[in-house]
Amino acid sequence: MASGNKLWGGRFSGSTDPIMEMLNASISYDQRLAEVDIQGSRAYAKALEKSGILSKTELEKILGGLEKISEEWSKGVFGVIQTDEDIHTANERRLKELIGDVAGKLHTGRSRNDQVVTDLKLFLKNSLSIISTHLLQLIETLVERAAIEIDVILPGYTHLQKAQPIRWSQFLLSHAVALTRDSERLGEVKRRINVLPLGSGALAGNALGIDRELLCSELDFASISLNSMDAVSERDFVVEFLSVATLLMIHLSKMAEDLIIYSTSEFLIIYSTSEFGFLTLSDAYSTGSSLMPQKKNPDSLELIRSKPALGLCFLAAVLMVLKGLPSTYNKDLQEDKEAVFDVVDTLNAVLQVATGVISTLQISKENMERALSPEMLATDLALYLVRKGMPFRQAHVASGKAVQLAETKGITINNLSLEELQNISPLFGSDVAQVFSVVSSVEQYTAAGGTAKSSVSAQIEQLRELLKRLKEQA
Ligand code: ARG
Repeated sequence: MASGNKLWGGRFSGSTDPIMEMLNASISYDQRLAEVDIQGSRAYAKALEKSGILSKTELEKILGGLEKISEEWSKGVFGVIQTDEDIHTANERRLKELIGDVAGKLHTGRSRNDQVVTDLKLFLKNSLSIISTHLLQLIETLVERAAIEIDVILPGYTHLQKAQPIRWSQFLLSHAVALTRDSERLGEVKRRINVLPLGSGALAGNALGIDRELLCSELDFASISLNSMDAVSERDFVVEFLSVATLLMIHLSKMAEDLIIYSTSEFLIIYSTSEFGFLTLSDAYSTGSSLMPQKKNPDSLELIRSKPALGLCFLAAVLMVLKGLPSTYNKDLQEDKEAVFDVVDTLNAVLQVATGVISTLQISKENMERALSPEMLATDLALYLVRKGMPFRQAHVASGKAVQLAETKGITINNLSLEELQNISPLFGSDVAQVFSVVSSVEQYTAAGGTAKSSVSAQIEQLRELLKRLKEQA
């Protein structure tokens, strides 16, 4: 293929190797930037008119042509042709077909280098708003479910071993709280993206006195970039987005793993010695087995669990592309887009699926209760002695002895007689029976952040307030 309609054909007489052409082309994926590319061109055309490069009529013509192209993209009828190297080439080629040679004035003083980074920032700004909305929806779902099911108690785990009784709501909110940090981080990324690169040219700036403030307000950026060389080459916002997104996906994967374990009704020898079966996923988020008719698998959660792996790969790939890259634009930078698109799509999907899973899953209070073994109250037994004046270290030993005695007798600690307990410590009295209630156990944790009803309610209130603020920023 000879230089064809390449944006850079002038100095070339030889043709491009077809495989090289394929390697070089980004149109197959960067056409997702079609709309923001047109938006950028509209603003740039207006700025060109202001600086006298375009007449009013030429501007009208260009804007009309761009409008038509935008329509073609939105109707799905834009015809990409083989020589369209990237979205910028495609849109400009089409503009020329529609309005003739005046189209050639649009790129005056602009480079694809400042154009592509502007496009990507515009794309990501829009995507971040959508992602934030989905994220807030998920947080709200967790918080409101926590409010409704505040009286449900289940075992809390450390090392995947039963530890202490907690409220189901405390568990739900633990994930909600992590996600609020992600939401704040996404907001930070959005703020830092909000610097306009357009008007930086290829690397040296703009020689036509283009009004960058006009571009900035037309494209709704908060400020203009300070240095043209930095502006065309920095992809910090891509790295920040990918890392914040990956951490968010890691949080989702942890929540997914908890829910997978809780939904298991098998006898889990590797994890613990009792059944879970705390919850059931709705059919909408489960799939069956092609062989085993009885199976209902939590594929939704497994996919949510797997996704950070891909996020991290893209983050690593972009960081590697950037490492040691000479100033300023280099074609290596073309690799940023697929990473962004993939992670944006993945995040949008997993957030919505997670919200669906959380809002439709059914819990089994019976199985949760059944799993609350009396040994989980050994800490409370120690705290009982502490309240009677025993130093905690001694109380810990005494309670441990009670656990051991029960174990050797083949009974649970709540079935030890008062006499047996008093042999361990004379501080045990008949009121020790109250210790063996899971409700009174969780109700001890009234300090802020704890699992007592009052502090869980306070968490819910605070999260509702925080959500209001985060929604305003989204
Ligand atoms: N398709 C290119 C990219 O994605 C556009 C910028 C090309 N600039 C250049 N000087 N070759 O990065």
